[in-house]
Amino acid sequence: TYVVTEACIKCKHTDCVDVCPTDAFREGPNFLVIDPEECIDCTLCVAECPVDAIYADDDVPDDQRQFIALNEELAKEWKPIVEVKPAPEDAGMWATVKDKLKFLER
Ligand code: F3S
Repeated sequence: TYVVTEACIKCKHTDCVDVCPTDAFREGPNFLVIDPEECIDCTLCVAECPVDAIYADDDVPDDQRQFIALNEELAKEWKPIVEVKPAPEDAGMWATVKDKLKFLER
């Protein structure tokens, strides 16, 4: 399955949802996750993300492995998002910030 990682936090461009054939994305206040029960490993979303936040679960960087469980957990709580919406106005500024997990809103 594919996993959204920390680069998405506070960036939330939502280009990814437009290409997902199974509508697997779920939306939180400032982050999206992929429902592992819906993802069919099509890979289409990976190239769409302007901040390269999406990885195959096998390829998630070591320091972000916790996002695999986080996607699974939050996918159960959050609602589907199927249409692109404008990114936050300050998304560009957050694109290069590291260690954003502390800013995740639930
Ligand atoms: Fe997030 Fe990238 Fe989608 S910033 S909302 S994973 S296009």
